[in-house]
Amino acid sequence: MSLAALLDGLPIPIIQAPMAGATTGAIALAVSQAGGLGSLAAAGLTPEEIEAGVAALKRETSRPFAVNLLVAPSDTPDAGVVAAALARLAPWYAQAGAPLPAAPNRFAHDFQAQLAALTRAPPPVASFAFDLIDRAQVEALHAAGSYVVGTANTVAEARAWAEVGADGICAQGFEAGGHRGNFLAETEASLVGTLALVATVRDAVDLPLIAAGGIMDGRGVAAALALGANAVQMGTAFLLSDQAATSAAWREAIAAAPDDPTRLTRAFTGRHARGLENRFMREMRPLEDAVPAYPVQNRLTGPLRAAAEAAGDAQMMSVWAGQAVALAGPGDAGDLIRRWWAQAGEAAAGVSVRVNRGEKV
Ligand SMILES: Cc1cc2nc3c(=O)[nH]c(=O)nc-3n(C[C@H](O)[C@H](O)[C@H](O)COP(=O)(O)O)c2cc1C
Repeated sequence: MSLAALLDGLPIPIIQAPMAGATTGAIALAVSQAGGLGSLAAAGLTPEEIEAGVAALKRETSRPFAVNLLVAPSDTPDAGVVAAALARLAPWYAQAGAPLPAAPNRFAHDFQAQLAALTRAPPPVASFAFDLIDRAQVEALHAAGSYVVGTANTVAEARAWAEVGADGICAQGFEAGGHRGNFLAETEASLVGTLALVATVRDAVDLPLIAAGGIMDGRGVAAALALGANAVQMGTAFLLSDQAATSAAWREAIAAAPDDPTRLTRAFTGRHARGLENRFMREMRPLEDAVPAYPVQNRLTGPLRAAAEAAGDAQMMSVWAGQAVALAGPGDAGDLIRRWWAQAGEAAAGVSVRVNRGEKV
């Protein structure tokens, strides 16, 4: 077996994007059972929770699924940096009526321990974003029985994943909701649209390719496959689905969003991410470059965002969503992928009629 064979063997070549904070194993199960590839977002899980999550999915389905980790540093930042970041956030905590947190001892789960858990409880596919893992780590996952997919925002990043032995590339265009995955160059130099990225990575790297970013229905699925993708990864399109863990405030903000509502910001987490523009993003913009890098700022704004979310205040929480969020709709996640796949067939047939009209030029 190979990753290419696994993807080509999916009845529906749609991967439900891992979405930390918006998904649980329930949506992964629904999508895998319906013939797609579900993903468990494991960035926020302890090693024990990762092992339990993989075991539960293996118990509940014989279909393949993916587990995703974010490759983030776990070293402790300078106390002065943390104090300055908290001081910047103090007015926001006051507005939310929530206590300013004390400087935490830890800012994220230990990545090495999470990775070790994945190697002990290997999923069919292990996917990564934010940085590379090294060749030895890729080989350990292979030996355990997992295929490795690396997220790339540029052709150079796709080549880097190929060099460490990854089995496939998830090419994340700049339309995508949530965090940017760039790790080689600054964000400004890594904002390639899905159309350009998928076609250029397809030509540069001889690995199975997964297209992500702005794909919201069957039209996008057909377009990505036409560009040479083996499968697509869709995130925002699932945010209103029955099995998504999206909060009521998040769902309402999506439903009420104006035209073209998303922006990139690093103010919430210290890493650029795309979401619905709100007051926190706008007012923090002048300070954005000063906030400490992920995961530090992510941890420091966590209680603020949770308080705003609980209060239904979408102006102080991160409402991650991609550029085409207006196309998101409700429904059972399994029904959604079946509908998108049927639409993809119609879209491809329509293009085929036009292309094969028989006119000689
Ligand atoms: C709410 C949200 C959370 C996300 N969390 C993760 C994550 O934990 N890991 C990851 O690799 N990608 C994450 N992503 C990015 C997706 O994997 C994918 O690149 C993106 O959703 C594709 O673009 P689309 O949202 O336009 O479909 C997230 C995206 C969203 C919208």
